Amino acid sequence: MTDPAAALAAWRRHAGGACVLLDGFHALKHALRFGAEVPVAVTADRRAALALADELAPDVRDALDAALAEVGPAAYAGLVPRPHPTAVAALAVRPARAAALRRLAELPRRAPVVVLDQPRNLGNAGAVIRLAAGFGATGVVTTGPLDPWHPTVVRGGAGLHFATAVERLDVAELPPGPVYALDPEGADIRGTELPDDALLAFGSERSGLSAELRARADHLLALPMRPQVSSYNLATSVAMALYHWSATAPRPS
Ligand SMILES: C[S@@+](CC[C@H](N)C(=O)[O-])C[C@H]1O[C@@H](n2cnc3c(N)ncnc32)[C@H](O)[C@@H]1O
Repeated sequence: MTDPAAALAAWRRHAGGACVLLDGFHALKHALRFGAEVPVAVTADRRAALALADELAPDVRDALDAALAEVGPAAYAGLVPRPHPTAVAALAVRPARAAALRRLAELPRRAPVVVLDQPRNLGNAGAVIRLAAGFGATGVVTTGPLDPWHPTVVRGGAGLHFATAVERLDVAELPPGPVYALDPEGADIRGTELPDDALLAFGSERSGLSAELRARADHLLALPMRPQVSSYNLATSVAMALYHWSATAPRPS
């Protein structure tokens, strides 16, 4: 839809409903690549946005050309709380919870599910979703009050929520599979191969793994860390564990 008036009307219809804000060119690019339903996309400068597509994302250039309506700088700024430097924004339909749960529970699983137990920091959650997408993880589950589809998490995830399954669950509802929980007091991860059906669980930034998650854990693993350092940042811990999985999991020859 490239007509500005129709795009603004569509934005008003969809904002605040079952849609999430894609803030910036890269978020929209990723969402389109991974099959997001995007009912409306706007820009303050169509020519600049399509030039970026030519340079960085020719695979979605035609989709952007068909979707982007130029609404002018003032109208664009009125739609988004903090205008993005690329002056592109879109609304994408949040996938149905039932579909995400099916994907998370499906066996055999070809890549782990990341579990963030009671995370607090929205930026960490977004960074973890981006990591999960990059490593081809099956999904990211959060426990506790943080909404993994909060606009700040979606912004941190750069539109990559659509490349994996993202849901909030209670510990009792976690998908099947052995739980490998990461904790500085665990056994050295370097002695362990992480299977594809693993749930890789990480504790909260403030207090680590909850008692409930510990009770569900089959293995407690530590990332190498020299004495006197208490712990790593949550998202960097997920990065190391996913890298360890990708580097050590047996692959069919
Ligand atoms: C910032 S840390 C939590 C620190 C918290 N004060 C605690 O008591 O554990 C967040 C999470 O990252 C993971 N993590 C951080 N450093 C780790 C390490 N050296 N080995 C294994 N996991 C680690 C754990 O899952 C931890 O719960």
